Amino acid sequence: MKALLVYSSCDGQTKAIVETIAQELQGQAQVSLYNINEMPEINLNDYDGVLLGASIRYGHFSKAFKSFVERNCDTLNGMPTAFVSVNLIARKAEKRSPQTNGYTRKYLLSTRWKPSICGVFAGALRYPRYGWLDRVMIQLIMRMSGGETDSSKEIEYTDWEQVRRFGHDFARLIGASGA
Ligand SMILES: Cc1cc2nc3c(=O)[nH]c(=O)nc-3n(C[C@H](O)[C@H](O)[C@H](O)COP(=O)(O)O)c2cc1C
Repeated sequence: MKALLVYSSCDGQTKAIVETIAQELQGQAQVSLYNINEMPEINLNDYDGVLLGASIRYGHFSKAFKSFVERNCDTLNGMPTAFVSVNLIARKAEKRSPQTNGYTRKYLLSTRWKPSICGVFAGALRYPRYGWLDRVMIQLIMRMSGGETDSSKEIEYTDWEQVRRFGHDFARLIGASGA
């Protein structure tokens, strides 16, 4: 079994999530893992399944992620695929499903891609690492949604058990059993 895992990540949280899923697949599938911005030309048909992870920045997934999906939509729809959606609104458990997470729901309605499975994951809040404008803007977003506004804080909201469960679901989806 061959699995292709691709992430679009600004500050590394989606990368860490997809890497954790890759670890779950170890021994069950042959895993290729790429940053979407550093990918070589790849034939998706060489793989038994594809997982794409992307984070939200100011309400949007990256252009690189969206254009990858649009370019490969027909191929993706013809094989087992998984979508890993990462944002801070998902820190609230009730906003952690494709139906209840606004960014994910809106994106899935806007694309022809129909991922076989989709997981919504809470990301990380790392105020000290942001430039001042991002810090102020994220404080605003957090204030509006009743979250942490103390700019000295770094908080990882990701539920790693949920990530590992999703890795397990993806392995089952692609029928992974041995590399
Ligand atoms: C500049 C910036 C803008 C963000 N905008 C949003 C947003 O609009 N909504 C949201 O829920 N999370 C937002 N986030 C939170 C990120 O989705 C979260 O930090 C995630 O862990 C980032 O993943 P990454 O490190 O893989 O890029 C933003 C983060 C940054 C740094």
